[in-house]
Amino acid sequence: MTVNFLLVGNGAREHAIAKSLCKSPDVRLFACMSAKNPGIANLCQTSKGEFKIGNIENGREIAKWAKDKKIALAFPSPDAVLAAGVADELKKARIRICAPLKAAARVEWDKNFLRHLMVKYKIEGCPKYKHFTDEKGIDEFIDQLKEVAVKPVGLTGGKGVSVSGFQLKNSQEAKAYAKELLAKKTGGSGGVVIEEKLLGEEFTLMAFCDGKTMSGMRTVQDHKRAFEDDLGPNTGGMGAYCDNNHILPFLKQEDYDKSFDIMHRIMEALERESGEKYVGVMYGQFMATHGGVSVIEINARFGDPEAMNALAVLKTPLLDIFNAMADGTLADVKMEREAATTVVKYVVPEGYPNKAVEPFPIGIDYACLKKSGAEIFFASVDERDGQIFSGMSRAIAVLGKGASIAQAQVVAEEGCGCIFGRLWHRRDIGTPNLVQKRIEHMQKIRREH
Ligand code: AMP
Ligand code: GLY
Repeated sequence: MTVNFLLVGNGAREHAIAKSLCKSPDVRLFACMSAKNPGIANLCQTSKGEFKIGNIENGREIAKWAKDKKIALAFPSPDAVLAAGVADELKKARIRICAPLKAAARVEWDKNFLRHLMVKYKIEGCPKYKHFTDEKGIDEFIDQLKEVAVKPVGLTGGKGVSVSGFQLKNSQEAKAYAKELLAKKTGGSGGVVIEEKLLGEEFTLMAFCDGKTMSGMRTVQDHKRAFEDDLGPNTGGMGAYCDNNHILPFLKQEDYDKSFDIMHRIMEALERESGEKYVGVMYGQFMATHGGVSVIEINARFGDPEAMNALAVLKTPLLDIFNAMADGTLADVKMEREAATTVVKYVVPEGYPNKAVEPFPIGIDYACLKKSGAEIFFASVDERDGQIFSGMSRAIAVLGKGASIAQAQVVAEEGCGCIFGRLWHRRDIGTPNLVQKRIEHMQKIRREH
């Protein structure tokens, strides 16, 4: 039976979701996009669906279109779309959804809400923190903690957080930054969260959730910093890798179990708070520290690029998983994965993330890509008259698969070499050298504390 599936969003993450869904021959893909992602557009055409370009945060309009197209299941994907209540409008129009409603997605768009929830429900892994809506007390709290992370409460595309020792040289700068965020109302007028700086290695755990059952994916490590050796400003993520099991090389099984448990408890707490089951993908960003795992943030969606790592090895049809999430039958789904590891690297325009250059044409040598074995996913690009142009953000994600992280890295690197334009990428992601540094860093953290 044909399933008319609606996907809202047009990044590389959504391209990967679309590609996975279209592996099920029954799917007719419908997509709402803010710019024409050539990969998603092509999948809509080949699956005999349709796409629409417009405002992807206008839930009412999307729900109307979905009704018209007889959509059987919908997945609004990006954070801003969930924060705009698109899932709520679809639900109101009686369209089945497998993504969280605005009240639950708040865990992502309100950083103070997450911390508050963790304290209220006594969920482990919450760093010391305070929420400020005016300057009073900021100086004292920073003096008390010394090393801090300063975060605007609302959404900033992963670029609003500054941390002592990285973007903030001293407590003077931390205080000034917190006050600047308040004055400029960065991320909205929700204020600023200041929390203790966590030391360790970061990792992502994503899970499919149906409100009762949570099914964890492999842990993935993203690379937030723009430049090699983890230097430069924060970005949406420059690339990510995972191993051929659930545990990254620097983690222990107990780190996985603890993070999974924390996310499960957050899923339950969100139901208690919002009165609705948490249905959708949950994304946990954790720091493995000397004292166990701590929560950096919880998102109500797939990570980008982490989605590419997770979906590339999934053998169970994504459509079956999404259907089970919507029906509350995830416990019956057997998750099967390939043994391969994955490395994803983003090619990004010159000037990213601070000030990308004006759009330029991007050339792709498909024969070269085929030879490399890499796969590509379009992100911030636009297609006009058959030519692909860069946008202002990450352009194309390149995925390499292999028997080991090192092998997958070589494939991804070769794939990056098949894309031309004023683009660059981090060559170090997934290299044996960098993975080894992570392992040694974690050993040092565990030893010294
Ligand atoms: P976020 O936008 O919350 O993901 O934060 C962006 C980045 O800031 C994270 O990926 C971390 O590298 C860093 N970060 C956030 N919170 C903390 C913290 N409490 N301690 C250390 N680093 C942090
Ligand atoms: N890669 C980070 C994120 O999706 O939030």
